[in-house]
Amino acid sequence: MRIKRVVPGAGSGRSLLLVCGGGAGPSARAGVLASSVSAKATAEIARVWLLVRAPSGISPPFCFFKLGSAAAPPPPAEGWFSRSRSAARVPRLIAVSALLELLGIRLPIVQAPMAGVSTPALAAAVSNAGALGSVAVGTADVEATRRMLGEVRARTQRPFNLNVFCHRPARRDAAREARWLAALAPRFQSFGGAPPAQLDEVYRSFVGDDEMLALLLDERPPVVSFHFGAPPRAAIDALHGAGTRLLGSATSLDEARALEAAGVDAIVAQGYEAGGHRGVADPDAPDDRLGTLALTRLLAARCRVPVVAAGGIMDGAGIAAALALGAAAAQLGTAFIGCPESSADDAYRAALASPASAHTVMTRVVSGRPARCLANRFTELGAIVDEREVPDYPVAYAAGKALAAAARAAGEPGYGAQWAGQGAPLARFVPAAALVAALEAELLQASRTGASSI
Ligand SMILES: Cc1cc2nc3c(=O)[nH]c(=O)nc-3n(C[C@H](O)[C@H](O)[C@H](O)COP(=O)(O)O)c2cc1C
Repeated sequence: MRIKRVVPGAGSGRSLLLVCGGGAGPSARAGVLASSVSAKATAEIARVWLLVRAPSGISPPFCFFKLGSAAAPPPPAEGWFSRSRSAARVPRLIAVSALLELLGIRLPIVQAPMAGVSTPALAAAVSNAGALGSVAVGTADVEATRRMLGEVRARTQRPFNLNVFCHRPARRDAAREARWLAALAPRFQSFGGAPPAQLDEVYRSFVGDDEMLALLLDERPPVVSFHFGAPPRAAIDALHGAGTRLLGSATSLDEARALEAAGVDAIVAQGYEAGGHRGVADPDAPDDRLGTLALTRLLAARCRVPVVAAGGIMDGAGIAAALALGAAAAQLGTAFIGCPESSADDAYRAALASPASAHTVMTRVVSGRPARCLANRFTELGAIVDEREVPDYPVAYAAGKALAAAARAAGEPGYGAQWAGQGAPLARFVPAAALVAALEAELLQASRTGASSI
């Protein structure tokens, strides 16, 4: 193999890209390649990782090397990008391979954390299949988080992500909360119930939660992701010091820049199409409602850290499109709700499988923060109330959960928090491992032909 060009890696700044031509690519050994590089570069190479292995008979157009330390994590196994044959794809392959290496995964796919829906079994199945599984503990306390960490670790040795919420504390407003409970009272009564006498902040923010931080520093999850902003620098530095990789969710360039400044390793670009809570740091600030396409491209062009696209991505063609925009991976939530490993109830699954899945609504009536939900009885309420009358998150969620429980007890499932993204009609109902395998095959297909298989 002949080295034609040596390009400093764009991703981590500690990597080299070797653009190669001809020669015995498939059989080339890392040591041979290393000695082909200039003496200075060779001397710098503490450890050479050959991440690209070509299928037999095809000489790879490029090889990606990492200049790493012995303490760095091992490289992922052969990745999907190894079969790419176009050197023109190299810049984005650098970004992809740098993120795969950072997270220690094989596929550029993240199963989105989904509080109340994703489970340790789902995360483990996804991680075992080569993507990054996520455990959502934004609504869990320290004990539940410890238990979930144990459950996921019992099922997989692979890296996984643990997701926490960094919302600002609710601004309590007794008068507004009383008005909100009064507004909901007729609905409670129609189910033979009554609204709670008062509302509480049902979830604690990770910001300032020293007990949770101590647990994470002790447990050292491989990856931690933040939603609704980020914790202070000291927490970020402490998690980094524990060897944890950090992701943060952004819905705009300003939020992405704030996350970069906070020190995250990669940014989840969450478009307006996305299911579940919008990751906005301030739910009352003006929102440009950028879609996944525009946001991903914008952040990929302007941010220094890798970008993970999220929102409305349901299959390999969608992932390939995100990568073409410069994303280093895609995060899929709604696509995984139908997996048997999720904890979505029967009514949620049935709605997702029905024509009703074509209709989603961004509303804050359910929880107090904007979130995309399948259109249901609860979201209908959002159309007739003044959303400024909804108490802050998570206080409003206490009322929403009580109403959903009263309705369910009366046989009405339409008040559930049935979060889903705009791609919901493309949901599949297969085990997580089968879904990841299908996503991988579709991604390969779309990468080769530039087209989806359907
Ligand atoms: C049911 C559900 C629950 C979610 N819960 C969380 C969560 O706990 N933490 C988080 O960071 N994102 C959460 N999200 C948002 C996802 O991280 C991601 O942005 C979104 O799923 C991407 O859009 P998609 O659903 O169209 O794939 C949730 C999404 C869904 C659908």
